[in-house]
Amino acid sequence: VVELATTVAGILLKTCVYNASGPRSGTSTALSKVAQSASGAVLAKSATVQKQSGNPQPRTWHHPDYIASFNSEGLPNNGIDYYIDATTIDDAMKDADDDKPYFVSLSGKSLHDNMEMLHKIASAPTKNRISAIELNLACPNVIGKPIIAYDVDQMDSILEQVSQLTDSLPPLGVKLPPYLDFQHFQQAASVLNRHKKLVKYVASINTLGNALAVDVVSEAPCISSNSGFAGLSGPAVHYTALANVRKLRELLDEDIDVVGVGGVRSGKDVFAMLLAGATAVQVGTCHWIEGPSCFDRIVDELRVLMEEKGCRRIEDVKGKLKAWS
Ligand code: DOR
Repeated sequence: VVELATTVAGILLKTCVYNASGPRSGTSTALSKVAQSASGAVLAKSATVQKQSGNPQPRTWHHPDYIASFNSEGLPNNGIDYYIDATTIDDAMKDADDDKPYFVSLSGKSLHDNMEMLHKIASAPTKNRISAIELNLACPNVIGKPIIAYDVDQMDSILEQVSQLTDSLPPLGVKLPPYLDFQHFQQAASVLNRHKKLVKYVASINTLGNALAVDVVSEAPCISSNSGFAGLSGPAVHYTALANVRKLRELLDEDIDVVGVGGVRSGKDVFAMLLAGATAVQVGTCHWIEGPSCFDRIVDELRVLMEEKGCRRIEDVKGKLKAWS
């Protein structure tokens, strides 16, 4: 028998595959479908302080062969109060295994907003039902705002502020953008390592920011928001995601888990992420396209592959990428 359980930030997940924040994660109804699947955890859509509807439509586009997806959603979400509300969590988790973890994601428009949401969680009656918080420092789609984690000094000062709340919060992870240059990996890792008391995991990667899909028939961008510039996801970014997981696993303190995310759509893709050093793997675009049954399929595929390879536990695979031969 193959054991697919893992831990993220010390939290037990019965399977090492779960949903990425974003697709099909904005409402308790959508989250309850993830909760009922083989997904090892349930992660909500990135919240802002207030409910908001996001950028104008059309703001998403999928390549017809599903090699790439684009979104300029602009953080449509129900607001932090909704995602930490007892009724929402009850509805989302009612048909899940008792101990399936529920995670929230925060993507405040400012440090002030992030602190406000963190204070709300610290004093929420539901605090002990929120297993972890994913602080999204990588959203590319807030028009006029940069991708925070590309400015490591800003990331450092945010984490410094948030550190004041470490003891009153559930474990914290940081969602990172894709890095492309080894110097940038070093700079990001050194900031994250400096905050290892606070940061218990990183989720790598968010979408590759500001990509452009062009429609040759209309001779215009495929999506209207943000002049067509949008976050790129799906198989097109899988290899960048693998490299980010590999490099971050190498550079981060061993107390910081790396959760792999980016273009994962099969058990093989999960296995590759584990080899690169991921402790768990999130699925975003494939979940968006295929729906929550993707978790059952991917987990089954992973189980079969691990069986074939004689791997019995995640630890037999994790970080075990071999040298080229
Ligand atoms: O690609 C993304 N789209 N990443 C995010 O972090 C947020 C999301 C959105 O709502 O725009």
